[in-house]
Amino acid sequence: MAALPVEGAREQMSGGSMLIRGAEIVLPDRIVSGDLRVVAGKIESIAIGGGLVPNGDEMLVEGEGLHLMPGAIDPQVHFREPGNPEKETIGSGSRAAAAGGVTSFFDMPNNNPAATSLAAMQAKIDSAAATAVTNYGFFIGATPNNVADLQDAVGTAEAPSPTDGICGIKVFMGSSTGDLLVHQQEHLENIFANTGGIIAVHAEDEDRLNARWPEFQDRTDIAAHAEWRDHECALLATKRATKLAKDHGHKLHVLHLTTGVEADWLAQNKGDLVTTEVCPQHLTFDQDDVEKIGTRLQMNPPIHYTEDRDTLWRRLKDGTIDCIATDHAPHTLENKALGFPTAHSGMPGVETSLPLMLTHALDGKCSISDVTRWMCEGPARVYGMKNKGRLEEGFDGDLVLVDLENSHTIQDADTWTNVGWTPLAGMELTGFPQLTVVGGIPVHGRGIGGSLRGEPLCEAGEAGIALKF
Ligand code: DOR
Repeated sequence: MAALPVEGAREQMSGGSMLIRGAEIVLPDRIVSGDLRVVAGKIESIAIGGGLVPNGDEMLVEGEGLHLMPGAIDPQVHFREPGNPEKETIGSGSRAAAAGGVTSFFDMPNNNPAATSLAAMQAKIDSAAATAVTNYGFFIGATPNNVADLQDAVGTAEAPSPTDGICGIKVFMGSSTGDLLVHQQEHLENIFANTGGIIAVHAEDEDRLNARWPEFQDRTDIAAHAEWRDHECALLATKRATKLAKDHGHKLHVLHLTTGVEADWLAQNKGDLVTTEVCPQHLTFDQDDVEKIGTRLQMNPPIHYTEDRDTLWRRLKDGTIDCIATDHAPHTLENKALGFPTAHSGMPGVETSLPLMLTHALDGKCSISDVTRWMCEGPARVYGMKNKGRLEEGFDGDLVLVDLENSHTIQDADTWTNVGWTPLAGMELTGFPQLTVVGGIPVHGRGIGGSLRGEPLCEAGEAGIALKF
């Protein structure tokens, strides 16, 4: 197999133009052998069967034996900037994304302080322009009384006015990491009635969480987490958010679905306004894994039970669940070592989601085309992104070449996240990206036989743009 252009890639960079030859190209409807050319950051031609001739001005990549996919889009990450650089920054998170074949991310506002104004959003967008190596979008956080700020960022119901780099509004209906919370009906009504764009909700019912806390507050076994934040807690909030969306004709995205009852209910009730997502960890782990692995698998909403995992797979395959997001939420190992219930909830995932899902594909749980639909096309469709998520002439040159012929046991030391660990440590995975390309610019490379961590191929800020919605 040809060596990949890890060495010399920077010198060969030529204005976002490259020719990838002889790859297995994952098109929207089939997988074909062929060549793909990117010119000035856009896919210019796809030659099924090959035959494109290098023109001398472009970087040449031999893709033989590799699958070429659209770059993955991760529509839910927590990069901790501002406030907690020891956990992640926009720059470090974006590097991790690139290493994982993720070429666009949408970052959450539960920072310290929370990002709830246009000025705070602009600071994040400016930081991303200087430090990211992938495309970026940011959610603005809703509070009980910041509708005017939300309108500055996304416009009103009558006159939506998206800002480049702002993907939508985030509402925490139940408490999680940080202090963002909107759970009273009048405040939720106000937000749904008076804003444009899309509202993404963390759907857990705050009143039920508070009411049942005394029953669980003395438990130190991690099983208590899913018992406390139970099915009913998730279902109540998902139903309530769906009603708000329908009453006000507002687009709604239910984040990180974790229970079978929600997925089954949404299958009957979601209609045209509501979309939803699932995380790879909820498709991979169950209560036994949580018991065994411990706080590394502690998150909100929690990993529930085997039946939930099975139903989530079923509802992903039948199209009820629109896309996959990681909810990449790094906390330090020192914090996780505090044990349950003191440890914070959340786990890293942005750099392992694609290999993990491709491993599921090779294990027969789904197909490579399914993974592309869920991780590339799906997020682009949900958030109305143009020219992203598919390998098609005229689309953006956001690409990933993955190796499905080799597998590797991943360890904490193989990661790029600032917290330096993965809940998948010790698992054998395939589908590691060999080359990640953003707008025709190579941003991360591995190379067969190279280190599993791979190498950055561009400087901070050299690739990636504010996403348009
Ligand atoms: O487990 C979680 N961690 N769930 C969330 O909703 C927030 C996230 C975080 O930011 O740590």
